[in-house]
Amino acid sequence: MRTDGYLAQYDALQQTDPAAALGLLTGWLRTDWRPLFAELRARRPVLATPAFTLVTRFGDVTEVLSRPASFTVAAYTSPMEAALGSPIMLTRDGTPMNWREKGVMQVMLAPEDVPRLRALTGALADAALDAAGDVIDVVESLFRAVPLAVCARYFGFPGPDPATLSRWSRAVMTDTTANLIGDPAVRAASVEAGAEMMAYLRALVAERRAGPEGPDVLGRLVRTRLPAELGFDDERVAVNVAGLLLGFVENAAGSMTNVLAHLLAHPPLLARAAEAARDSERFEPYVWEALRFDPFLKMIIRYRARDHVLASGAHLPGGGLVLAAVASAMFDENVVADPGAFRLDRPEHTRLHFGYGPHACVGVHPGRTVIAETLRRLLLRPGLRAEGEIRRDRGVFPDSFPLRLDAPAWKESRV
Ligand code: HEM
Repeated sequence: MRTDGYLAQYDALQQTDPAAALGLLTGWLRTDWRPLFAELRARRPVLATPAFTLVTRFGDVTEVLSRPASFTVAAYTSPMEAALGSPIMLTRDGTPMNWREKGVMQVMLAPEDVPRLRALTGALADAALDAAGDVIDVVESLFRAVPLAVCARYFGFPGPDPATLSRWSRAVMTDTTANLIGDPAVRAASVEAGAEMMAYLRALVAERRAGPEGPDVLGRLVRTRLPAELGFDDERVAVNVAGLLLGFVENAAGSMTNVLAHLLAHPPLLARAAEAARDSERFEPYVWEALRFDPFLKMIIRYRARDHVLASGAHLPGGGLVLAAVASAMFDENVVADPGAFRLDRPEHTRLHFGYGPHACVGVHPGRTVIAETLRRLLLRPGLRAEGEIRRDRGVFPDSFPLRLDAPAWKESRV
């Protein structure tokens, strides 16, 4: 890992071989993001490249995410709408649909559900851990399995089986968030998965409409009758239920993997977190602080719809992409005190894991609950240690992370 001089190397290569310079930069964004961002914040907080502009300071990042007239969500429109067959709140800025459906979904994902959801998550995580042998693939058996089961039992969207639900999520989110070069095969796989998912959901909504509606989030949606002129019909219900899966599983599994990897790499911290895991309130700050040191979503993409001068003075010309580096903003020393220290007392507003501004995560309450409670139940198990490397699809989505656990006393006494 280099400690400085990224810009000098990038600038020099940019003169002679711009494509190679871009390749170097995107590689660093994956492997060296903390020192790279530190240098950019200090020396070139807004870096314009031929492919995108990178914004790294807290104030600039939050401004980009809160000015939808200048910085739109257009980069999501084509992949997500191709998969779903129609718009969803994350693909449109400030439209009546976005305004209305974000409101409806905030009501449906009631914060009051949190205690019940925490209990459900805890039971699912404990059952998965009890069923595991000495070695568990924690991504497959816990970090994906628990969110998929929550999708089934709390959202009311089980899919034909968990493997199919998992495949739909991965195919659509790969095209939406990890296909910057626009690989047509990735798009085709997403469109096919999206069409299958929407056909399934239309049938599921019709089945619930015939009754019984059910006690879950889908049941709530079906029991909610809005006046016809608002256009919240069964197709909109199906699209929003698709959004529950798509917003959730990859983000939750990726975030849990990164938190666990950070804790395992710092044994004294792991020991403190394991001790705090006896109490959910005491434990949760460990999760968000560990995630700050390795956020799953490091940059949020926007399209520059028009010229914009940031409050900091930087001029961003219209046309092209801007990446709002939330991972950098959360280390900005002007806003985040002593950013290199692992601290449990950070104010909520310094954390950007669930986005910022008009598109901030509508699933923040369930998302937070499932991540924290799954990890808490895992850390209550003694003797956790990595048994192999994390394997990722496209270097992004974790697929496997073998972990060794001490056999619990009740299992040992049986042999
Ligand atoms: C229960 C689970 C979840 C659901 C249903 C959900 C759903 C959504 C939806 C619908 C949006 C778009 C909101 C809008 O356009 O107004 C969104 C945004 C976002 N979500 Fe979630 N989400 C969930 C979990 C998570 C998790 C676990 C994370 C990460 C830790 C996350 C991070 C984000 C971020 C960063 C955004 C902002 C995207 C942007 O501004 O481009 N979400 N979420």
